[in-house]
Amino acid sequence: MNKAKVTNLLRQLKLFYLIDWLRFYYQKIKNRTVNSAFKKKHPEVKLPPDYLMYESFQINYDKYYNGGLKMAKWLASHFKKHIELKHSNILDWGCGPGRIIRHMPDVINSGCKFFGTDYNQKSIDWCSKNLLDIEFNKNKLEANLPYENNSMDVIYGISIFTHLSEQMHYQWFNELHRVLKPNGILLLSMHGDNFKVKLSKAEIDTYNQGKLVVRGQVKEGHRTFAAFHPKPFLEYLFKDVEVLEHIIQTSTNKNWVPQDIWIVRKKKT
Ligand SMILES: C[S@@+](CC[C@H](N)C(=O)[O-])C[C@H]1O[C@@H](n2cnc3c(N)ncnc32)[C@H](O)[C@@H]1O
Repeated sequence: MNKAKVTNLLRQLKLFYLIDWLRFYYQKIKNRTVNSAFKKKHPEVKLPPDYLMYESFQINYDKYYNGGLKMAKWLASHFKKHIELKHSNILDWGCGPGRIIRHMPDVINSGCKFFGTDYNQKSIDWCSKNLLDIEFNKNKLEANLPYENNSMDVIYGISIFTHLSEQMHYQWFNELHRVLKPNGILLLSMHGDNFKVKLSKAEIDTYNQGKLVVRGQVKEGHRTFAAFHPKPFLEYLFKDVEVLEHIIQTSTNKNWVPQDIWIVRKKKT
C-alpha cells in the first residue's frame, strides 16, 4: 500500500489526529537541541507556544523566525513588482501565530498599516498580546471578514486554501475580492503539480480532470485537512481577476515540496 493510501485509511479510521499528535511530540523532541540553542542565542525573540507553531508550521525556532523573515522579504519584493506600497493596507489572511506578518512592519515600512486575521482563537490571542504594531482579528471558518469593501491594497494567504473545501474556495475568494481595492493585489499559495507525488492513483485521476482534490474527515481548516489545486480549477476560480504571476517553485530538498504562488489583481471595475 502506498503512503497516500495509508494516509487516507487513517483518516477513515479517525486515527489521523492521533498520528498528528505523535508527529507533534516527535518534532518537539527531534528539534529540542537546536531550539534551545536558538533560545539561548536570541532571548529577545518572542516565540509562540510550540503547539501553535506546530499547527501552522513546524517546531523549529530558527526556521520559524528567520524563515518567516525571509518569506516576508520575498513576498514584499513580489508585491513591489505590481503595486506602489506607500501608505498601503496589507492583510495576512490565515496569519497563524504571526510567522510572516510579524516581520512586515520592518520589511515594508512606507507608512503602511498591517492586519492579520485567522480562525484560530489561540493564535490571534497570542498575536494580539505579543505583536503590537499589527491589528489582529479572529474570523470564522466561513468567509466573513470585518473589513470594509475595497479597503486593502494587498492581501496574502500562505497555505490557507490548501486546508479548505471546494465550497470554501468560492466563498473565501469572493470575500477576499470584496475586501481588496480595485487594482489591489492578492497573493495565494496552493498545492500545485509538485504535490502530485503525494496523491493516490484515484486522486491523480481526479486532479488530472482539473478538479480540486480534497482530503477531509478532519476539522476543516486544520493542518490535516488538505486540498490540491490543478491549474484549470484555479483558472476558473480566478476568472474575474487578472492573473499576474503563477510561480512554480522548485526544491533540491527532497523533504520539502514547495507550493505554487499565484498573484492576481482585482480589476478596476
Ligand atoms: C499552514 S497554516 C499557515 C499559517 C501562516 N500563513 C504561515 O504561513 O505561517 C494555515 C493557517 O490557516 C488558518 N486557517 C484555516 N482556515 C482558515 C479560515 N477559514 N480563515 C482564516 N484562517 C484559517 C489556520 O488557523 C492556520 O493558522
